[in-house]
Amino acid sequence: MTAPKKLFIKTYGCQMNVYDSERMAEALGGQGYVETTTPDDADMILLNTCHIREKAAEKVYSELGRLKPLKEVNPDLKIGVAGCVAQAEGEEIMRRQPAVDLVVGPQAYHRLPEMETRVRSGKPALDTDFPEEDKFDHLKSRPKAKRAPAAFLTVQEGCDKFCAFCVVPYTRGAEVSRPAEKVLAEARDLVERGVREVTLLGQNVNAYHGGMSLAELIRALATVDGLERIRYTTSHPNDMDDDLIAAHGEVDKLMPYLHLPVQSGSDRILKRMNRSHTAESYLRLIERIRAARPDIVMSGDFIVGFPEETDADFEATMELVRQVKYGYAYSFKYSARPGTPAAERPEVAPAVADDRLRQLQALITTHQRQIQNSMVGRDVSVLVEKPGRKEGQMLGKSEYLHAVHIDDAKAQVGEIARVRIVDAKTNSLTARHL
Ligand code: 5AD
Ligand code: SF4
Repeated sequence: MTAPKKLFIKTYGCQMNVYDSERMAEALGGQGYVETTTPDDADMILLNTCHIREKAAEKVYSELGRLKPLKEVNPDLKIGVAGCVAQAEGEEIMRRQPAVDLVVGPQAYHRLPEMETRVRSGKPALDTDFPEEDKFDHLKSRPKAKRAPAAFLTVQEGCDKFCAFCVVPYTRGAEVSRPAEKVLAEARDLVERGVREVTLLGQNVNAYHGGMSLAELIRALATVDGLERIRYTTSHPNDMDDDLIAAHGEVDKLMPYLHLPVQSGSDRILKRMNRSHTAESYLRLIERIRAARPDIVMSGDFIVGFPEETDADFEATMELVRQVKYGYAYSFKYSARPGTPAAERPEVAPAVADDRLRQLQALITTHQRQIQNSMVGRDVSVLVEKPGRKEGQMLGKSEYLHAVHIDDAKAQVGEIARVRIVDAKTNSLTARHL
């Protein structure tokens, strides 16, 4: 028997890429690959890339430059680029970095085994199609490998919203939902392999319509024995329907955490972003969500320095953040993406955008810290995911997605422990068993 070939995958960007990387590893498992944790001894390196902001693509090219010399050490090494940079740049990647053997877009992963055979025979392989066949049907996982207790599950891909700054509708394509029965079957399979929590993924997950709405899918998943926790991300405010809001109050397994990007607090900018909601409608929506689930922790995404953003527009964003008080939030400096409508518009001076980003992040961090501190003395449930660095310590996540260290851990990986929070830092909490 020949020794297994080694596969190293580096994942950039969103959680959907994390999910896709797992599926790619499984697809190549059938070709005799096992995963390794370092590129140094790999026979195949895959960069699963993100194209959402400028620097991400540049990072990929510099990473490729760093990896190239490994081919001199191991002449059998093949290098591939997957994900959204692969989709957007296609052949250009091989032109700019000839060390790349394989380029595969996010909709063509199921063809990886054939592509691998091709590159092993010395030919380059490129596939950025949006094929008719369902890639998920081909990405069948190998028999019952044990999984970590918290897993991602892609239910929907692509986006039809066309926000003026965003490449997703171009790189991931039109919105497509997976049929609910396939999602349910995958969830049952995950549970058999040790999973206790699933996060349903989609670029516009609450627009899900795979024969059921997202609320109906969540209610159906809640009946799966052994599945204890359900989350979903990322949502668009316009697709938060009444039934989904009600589910937050009614479905115990649906965790009290919601990522609901707003991007800006200025109606003028929201309009230019083609967001089709206002700051006011977003705030009213959050009121309704909090009425259904008062303890819910909100999270969001923001872009500062969008073309033509004035000081007054930015102040409106700060005001919205003060009103919502996010438990977490991700804020980005606008970066013009070729092919998107906003890329044609006059940009805000970089120094101004930097300054706004600093102010916004400082405000968000203050709130995050206050919310973390407010957890001290409270009892929470933690899904234990792995041992911590300290002796006897375990790490996991609370209902609210806080990272929690349990110092006197009695619970094992995969168990849900009731603990009391005794200390808070900006990014983590410390707890003891009750
Ligand atoms: N520039 C900056 N941030 C962006 N995002 C998406 N496109 C851009 C861009 N061109 C941010 C949005 C989105 C998150 C995933 O990335 O806030 O919600
Ligand atoms: Fe991009 Fe999200 Fe807007 Fe779709 S809804 S275009 S994924 S920012």
